[in-house]
Amino acid sequence: MGRLSGSLAAIAVISIAYLQLQKYFVTHKKHVKPTFPRHGFYGPGRYIPDDERIHTFHINVSDKVIIDLGHRLREARINHEQLEDVSDFSYGFNKNTLQEFLHYWKNDYSWKDEEAKINIFSHFTTQIEGLNVHYIHAKPPLNKYQKIVPLLLVHGWPGNFYEFYKLIPLLTDPGLQGHDTKRTAFEVIVPSIPGFGFSEASHKSGFDQIATARIFKKLMVDRLDFMRFLAHGGDWGSLIVSNIAREFPEHLYGIHLNNVLSVPTIPRTIIQILGSYFPSLTFLSDTPQNYSFKEIFMEKLFESGYLHIQATKPDTIGVALNDSPIGLMAWILEKFSSLTNKEYRKLSDGGLEKKFTKDELLTIVMIYWINGNILSSQRYYKEFFSHPDRIEFSKEYIDVPVGVLAFPNDFGGFPTPAEMLSSIATLKHYKVMENGGHFAALEEPVLLASDIYEFVVKIVPEFDFEVLVGSM
Ligand SMILES: *[C@@H]1O[C@H](CO)[C@@H](O)[C@H](O)[C@H]1NC(C)=O
Ligand SMILES: *[C@@H]1O[C@H](CO)[C@@H](O)[C@H](O)[C@H]1NC(C)=O
Repeated sequence: MGRLSGSLAAIAVISIAYLQLQKYFVTHKKHVKPTFPRHGFYGPGRYIPDDERIHTFHINVSDKVIIDLGHRLREARINHEQLEDVSDFSYGFNKNTLQEFLHYWKNDYSWKDEEAKINIFSHFTTQIEGLNVHYIHAKPPLNKYQKIVPLLLVHGWPGNFYEFYKLIPLLTDPGLQGHDTKRTAFEVIVPSIPGFGFSEASHKSGFDQIATARIFKKLMVDRLDFMRFLAHGGDWGSLIVSNIAREFPEHLYGIHLNNVLSVPTIPRTIIQILGSYFPSLTFLSDTPQNYSFKEIFMEKLFESGYLHIQATKPDTIGVALNDSPIGLMAWILEKFSSLTNKEYRKLSDGGLEKKFTKDELLTIVMIYWINGNILSSQRYYKEFFSHPDRIEFSKEYIDVPVGVLAFPNDFGGFPTPAEMLSSIATLKHYKVMENGGHFAALEEPVLLASDIYEFVVKIVPEFDFEVLVGSM
């Protein structure tokens, strides 16, 4: 009796929820989409037209910056005691691990070696809306592939373009992946979000994920002449490519995301709550039967202190992080620990080297350090959270084909169920990985590359990847 009435109640509640959903979409379709200016200007002073030339760019950090960093690392002041009875990352970055990373950074890490690896890619800059935008432009080997698809890759925080360094060659030369040579390959564009990496930071307030979407669309379409392209993103990059889809769908084949950065909406929240109580009735497959809205909520609350501070007073915390390399390292790498897997909080080394190397992690940190742009990257949160109309825009339905590769250990600790994504986007492809967390491109580049190919074949059948016969 109990079970039967429980099921009936569940069916009733779900039916009501679906009616609500339908109603939502009917009204949703009618409502007028907010529009944003087609141009902006974020350079210093008064508006001047862009210099539209494209310049080659080579990373060459001066000795002065490296010597100054060495000095700061040698003089680093760590004067707290690790709590006697805490040996993990539950209070934040563990002191012993901090000292180990500091030792490696001072004695073994070579920026010049890392710089040489980054310079293997072709880098460029061009001015858009008053800002110098840096990007990598990686092309497939000449004459090896019949079809070339332009693909934009967009990073998030606290990463940067470097997160994609292992993914790029897998996309530009898929034949390398152990499969036979394929017909199609990607021509990959990897920009730094303005205020991150080697892109100039905005000189004016209001530079947000909508402006970034517009600037990257201008980069792809107006500067590089890709009339139609594919885009992939994670973290802020996921919102940026979603915004390109919302504003400029005519230029996209589709978008692929490894996490979906979307604001809670009523239907999503209903599905989340129902799914926590009646998982097998709410979710068709893929979603674990222990799915828990409460657990996700508590986990996000526990891990998002950084977000609150960055969304309110970025110019305060940013001062400290711009002045102290180990402070900067602790702030960034603690997130590479807990967002890769929340269980890593229970480890004395934060599990940092389970999926990444010290060199990789320190290079992420170095790119913030040498550009002095942690503060501007933190303002990106302030700009998002302080404009309600722009948050509203992030709820707009995405009408281009969307592919999602969900990782179970991502922020919150559960893959986002397909049922929740379908309420905000035309979901054409969805897969849950067995492993992996928030920084998918750096952690699981092979899985990510394969999934991007799988998605593309589904949405544009002529981009096939059959074995290429006799045209090498
Ligand atoms: C980097 O810049 C220095 C001068 O600051 C120059 O001597 C060196 O050749 C440059 N290296 C590269 C690889 O361009
Ligand atoms: C939920 O179940 C999955 C297996 O379906 C398991 O891997 C995971 O650890 C569980 N999560 C929690 C929070 O219990």
